[in-house]
Amino acid sequence: MEQYIVEMRNIVKRFPEVLANDHITFKVKAGEVHALLGENGAGKTTLMNILYGIYSADEGEIYINGRKVQISSPRDAINLGIGMVHQHFMLIDTLTVLENIALSLEIPFWKPLDKIRIKVEEVMKKYGLKVDLDAKIWQLSTGEKQRVEIIKIICRGAQILILDEPTSVLTPTETKELFKFLRKMASEGKAIIFVTHKLKEVMEVSDRVTVLRKGKVIATLETSETNERMLAKMMVGRDVIFELEKTPSIIGDPILKVEKLRVLNDRGTIAVKDVSFTVHSGEIYGIAGVAGNGQRELVEAIVGLRRKISGKIFINGIEIEKLNPRDIGEMEIAFIPEDRRMGYIPNMSVAENLILRSYNKAPFSKWMLLNYNAIKEYAQKLIDEYKIVTPNENVMAKLLSGGNLQRMILARELTIGKKLIIAVHPTYGLDVGSTEYVRKLLLKRRNEGSAVLLISEDLDEILALSDRIAVMFEGEIIGEVEAEKANIEKIGLMMAGVKEGE
Ligand SMILES: Nc1ncnc2c1ncn2[C@@H]1O[C@H](COP(=O)(O)OP(=O)(O)O)[C@@H](O)[C@H]1O
Ligand SMILES: [Mg+2]
Repeated sequence: MEQYIVEMRNIVKRFPEVLANDHITFKVKAGEVHALLGENGAGKTTLMNILYGIYSADEGEIYINGRKVQISSPRDAINLGIGMVHQHFMLIDTLTVLENIALSLEIPFWKPLDKIRIKVEEVMKKYGLKVDLDAKIWQLSTGEKQRVEIIKIICRGAQILILDEPTSVLTPTETKELFKFLRKMASEGKAIIFVTHKLKEVMEVSDRVTVLRKGKVIATLETSETNERMLAKMMVGRDVIFELEKTPSIIGDPILKVEKLRVLNDRGTIAVKDVSFTVHSGEIYGIAGVAGNGQRELVEAIVGLRRKISGKIFINGIEIEKLNPRDIGEMEIAFIPEDRRMGYIPNMSVAENLILRSYNKAPFSKWMLLNYNAIKEYAQKLIDEYKIVTPNENVMAKLLSGGNLQRMILARELTIGKKLIIAVHPTYGLDVGSTEYVRKLLLKRRNEGSAVLLISEDLDEILALSDRIAVMFEGEIIGEVEAEKANIEKIGLMMAGVKEGE
């Protein structure tokens, strides 16, 4: 009989609204990276919170190294050699990295930190996890904070590592480094549970994979005996289209033209350095690049949320500076913001959110009075058309799930914005089904003649949708290629700052 380091048997967890874990049996071996795959809401985090003692299961048993255990708190879990990196970090912002690590090791604060510093430095060196021990947590990037969480866990001597969607906050390069680290831990005989909804990552890093759907285990498989298509089908419950059908683009007039645009960031340094490009009707112009290279400032300047210091922006041949906000509002521009919180008002209903940009026009408004019937009818039509899952149009927007919120924003923006669509990370954090839906919709609009500016860190997304691809690095567009001739390696290099021909 095979020995498992972790065995969760018949785990059941009910929440008032949902059966989050429905008789889940999940077994992990020492020395493997085991992916726990599922869409948003499948029950992954719940199961891991049970293993880590944050929730207690309603039914089921847990065995560690073949011995039945009770895990009633994270303390119990830690004592059993379990460590967890949560989606939200548990660090104290005003303390240094070293102080945070010492706290987690329960070293009294009056003890000198020198001994622990030596130990932490050893761990960092051994696993290639670099971070400034004397920096305050608030000074760190998200990737660095995650590294601190990982160092904490290793210093506590964990044998079982749980990482809950760790790559969602990392750049492609940081993700590569994380994977190298995970493989190293596994090769030392530790058990790694890698929670994700990304198929590519499962294929890249795991030895085995367990697929969850709606609280149930669909299968546990050897990664080498499966593939993305098979996993997607198990995860979503139906076939998923990977290759979007992309007909050749029919390029029309220039719609958005940016000329030598220069923009500052919040710290007052130059974030966008003399950037120029044009997006035509009927094409998707994709801007790839690691976040933080000026994409945010570029978009904010285009949509008028940030002042530029020089350069020009034309929409439909008119310089936008010469327009007032109302004129810009009339220009049929759709804006799908990076931060979904910018795109809706949580305490307003779905219907109200859907007419946010048109409530002052007929048929919704006449003689300054709102026409509730017209609003209701319009909202119901969009809910239907964009498959927004909500009990009805009067539900507060904040109660929608991420995927449905994004559909609501798209419904509103794309109904108004027929000329120009500015989409920033439009599928970030969405499940496979919603991602597919959003991408198809953008392609449809492009086929109908909209000009689409797509900004995404997801290179696959850029490649699947764009007609032309630009790469942004340190505020500059350092290369532009026709999508048909695009070479992934070359784009990857450009994302790291290597210019063409270097
Ligand atoms: N604390 C909670 N209270 C009520 N419902 C919860 C709670 N935590 C999770 N759920 C629900 O349980 C289901 C599974 O959630 P979760 O385990 O977070 O899924 P995943 O991590 O796979 O996205 C979801 O429907 C979610 O809304
Ligand atoms: Mg989760």
